[in-house]
Amino acid sequence: MALTFKPLSPVFAAEVSGIDLTKPLSQQDVRAINAGMNEHAVLVFRQQPMTAQQQLNFASSFGPLDIGLKRVFKRPERLGDERLIDISNVDADGQVTRRDSPKNLSNFANQLWHSDSSFMNPRAAYSMLHCVIKPSWGGNTEFADLRHAYDTLDERTRAEIQELKAEHYALHTRILLGDEAYTDEQKKSIPPAIWPIADTHPGSGRKVLFVGVHARQILGWPTAESRMYLQDLLEHATRREYVYVHKWEPGDLVIWDNRSTLHRGRRYDIAERRELRRTTINDTPEAMLQAL
Ligand SMILES: [Fe+2]
Repeated sequence: MALTFKPLSPVFAAEVSGIDLTKPLSQQDVRAINAGMNEHAVLVFRQQPMTAQQQLNFASSFGPLDIGLKRVFKRPERLGDERLIDISNVDADGQVTRRDSPKNLSNFANQLWHSDSSFMNPRAAYSMLHCVIKPSWGGNTEFADLRHAYDTLDERTRAEIQELKAEHYALHTRILLGDEAYTDEQKKSIPPAIWPIADTHPGSGRKVLFVGVHARQILGWPTAESRMYLQDLLEHATRREYVYVHKWEPGDLVIWDNRSTLHRGRRYDIAERRELRRTTINDTPEAMLQAL
């Protein structure tokens, strides 16, 4: 059965039907999903009751998997495979974690507009998030389209950003949230990554406004001026009327392209269990991410 794509907003994001993601993908399926990602940037698949292993198998069809900050920080993990990223408020022992835990610090950092692993090189290409348990209220994930953001810049700003590069730093969000207890050795182990602000998405050839909360400095600019400019660009990219809001149901799988979108989680009662599993593809030449 052929895949069908139903747009979820006038700008980007589509719901996909006609495929069972618990089964192995054919090359044709991979090509169709990549082509859909290049066009829509966010794809929603409903009612896909994947096991963790099935999610790993699915993700591996698209390229090498990213493990994000686990490259640097090793913490006890509930999910056995380090390629599964535990987007939950559940501790390694299976209990809902305490309010002020490191796990919840990560959850709050995820509530800022960001592109996964933009502080690393290679950065993340696709992220794939599967809902296992949703809380009784809140906990939506919101998405913004950086291609549309670029296309709708005013002429002066578009010309101004052409040669600008921004430094993306992993601990910037943590420090913003009051978590500053990192040793010099830890800080040195996570060097920032540099990306052009006016970037080009490789799969679609479209220009993107590559910003997000990990960007803390424009190279060669005074820090205060660059932070305010990055903040202005981020506000433009995340204008409310162009945001797609995903309301989770268990069994949903949502894929987004971190090179052309931003996302953030939304508030929920952190005393209530929320469990999602993420797999992420590294943006490397081996990744099969272009429409073949
Ligand atoms: Fe994220």
